[in-house]
Amino acid sequence: MEAPWWASAVAYQVYPRSFQDSDGDGIGDLGGVLQRLDHLTDLGVDVLWLSPVYPSPQADNGYDISDYQGIDPLFGTLEQLDELIAALHARGMRLVMDLVVNHTSDEHPWFEESRASRTSPKRDWYWWRPPRGGFAGGDPGAEPTNWQSFFSGPVWEYDAATGEYYLHLFDRRQPDLNWENPEVREAVYAMMRWWLDRGVDGFRMDVINMISKDVAEDGHLHDGPPLPGSSLGDGSASYLCGPRIHEFLQEMHREVFAGRDGTFLTVGEMPGVTIEQARLFTDPVRAEVDMVFQFEHVGLDHQGSKWRPVPLRMRDLKASFGRWQTGLADVGWNSLYWDNHDQPRAVSRFGDDSPEFRRDSATCLATLLHLHRGTPYVYQGQEIGMANFPFASVDDFRDVESVNHFGAAMVVGEDPAAVLAAMRRMSRDNARTPVQWDASPSAGFTTGTPWLPVNPDHVEWNAAAQRDDPSSVLAHYRRLIALRHENPVVALGDFAMLLPDHDDVYAFTRSLDGETLLVVCNVSRRSCDLSDLLPQAVGAPLVLGNLPDPGPTLRPWEARVLDLRDRSVA
Ligand code: NOJ
Repeated sequence: MEAPWWASAVAYQVYPRSFQDSDGDGIGDLGGVLQRLDHLTDLGVDVLWLSPVYPSPQADNGYDISDYQGIDPLFGTLEQLDELIAALHARGMRLVMDLVVNHTSDEHPWFEESRASRTSPKRDWYWWRPPRGGFAGGDPGAEPTNWQSFFSGPVWEYDAATGEYYLHLFDRRQPDLNWENPEVREAVYAMMRWWLDRGVDGFRMDVINMISKDVAEDGHLHDGPPLPGSSLGDGSASYLCGPRIHEFLQEMHREVFAGRDGTFLTVGEMPGVTIEQARLFTDPVRAEVDMVFQFEHVGLDHQGSKWRPVPLRMRDLKASFGRWQTGLADVGWNSLYWDNHDQPRAVSRFGDDSPEFRRDSATCLATLLHLHRGTPYVYQGQEIGMANFPFASVDDFRDVESVNHFGAAMVVGEDPAAVLAAMRRMSRDNARTPVQWDASPSAGFTTGTPWLPVNPDHVEWNAAAQRDDPSSVLAHYRRLIALRHENPVVALGDFAMLLPDHDDVYAFTRSLDGETLLVVCNVSRRSCDLSDLLPQAVGAPLVLGNLPDPGPTLRPWEARVLDLRDRSVA
């Protein structure tokens, strides 16, 4: 079977609020995206994934949508979105929109109607449940289940006016839609068709593996196992890849994509998804989604919770990536990412953002990821080596997840300094500081006051400084993206992990039709002699590297892509 177009594509994620402001209000917008399209063309990416720009009260920066078929004035107009579609298509790029349909905003008219009364025709569009038996509504412990929300506290919010609770896996301003109700599903599919009719090329589907909940015949939802040190429990068994998830996604495919002219891309964001499930989700024969965002690798530096970070052990990363590569080799497809708007910056987290090694570790991590089999996603700023922000105090954070976490941690008496230290490392706000376009005071992001401060390191680390520098992180990304386009081994070759237990060197091969690439990355500050470790690497022609003059020693954070084909001839 011929490989689909996205097998050799690279996607770029724009988080519009922090990308480029065009009207001086300090918040990025569509006008800003339109102004910066040359940056994407220059990089060579094929797909733009645009985080939400829909009308929203912005409780979760747009992941709380109050109208699925419009554009928030904060970000611009529908005409500008049409303009963006046309401009991208003219440049040979595609637009993937964010689809957030596990939940809406509590200000969405559907929810307003639903909460209006117990007999509202839309009551059943959301998850309303009475207080737990024997409890009065609003009392501690009266929540219908013990599940903890992703954004701290219980997942249930009491509505005194109607005497029932509604479910919100995320913030209380993000009520979960009830996908059991066919009217909900039909409304979502109609909305998706409307966007495709406008010309968008697909969807990144927010927490899409949470739309099916494990609900008993009588409507009962089940408590989860208690969380250590908490009165709440882990409800994930009831909502991650629930009983009807495959049915819903197949129905969505049938109702939205089947029979439609065009080439689309669908990527399902799926926390907790296993390889076995991912094979089912991405098997083309099943017609569900093209690829999934899995979370295994970004959980390897957590101890139970992201707020208890521990150092990453390289052998764990190899084992994880290796399993995913093998697991989706014959069926399905991987997506590849380090960074996105929910993760701290990879160069600070998995690389080394000290002045000495920042450039080399950013390019090394990029090489490692982009040479795997799958579709790589570049998150805005990653291509210039943007790093975590030096947050000084808790008041510097804006993200609802971080703010709620700090509040909840204080209630249970955690040490504020320790909580702050973890937030500095792990907060999503690290990814959300404005893109550093140049060395000017607001980094070229805005003429106003940026909604989140610009990282002070922008004076040195910015796109303008890197654009014409062949040794820059930006230039390296350009080369990696071009390599995937030009070389079918990079896009399609078989993957084999080498040195699974080595702490410093991440190495693997990619092979296709008699050609083999060897990828060798030193993911440490220590130099390493290649002649003993990987003798086949010594003297092999360099296809792409991140440091000049490669020799028998692999220098700290050095990465090489080598062509082994000529070696067998020599
Ligand atoms: C995942 C999104 O990426 C994240 O930013 C958001 O907070 C949650 N889903 C809820 O929509």
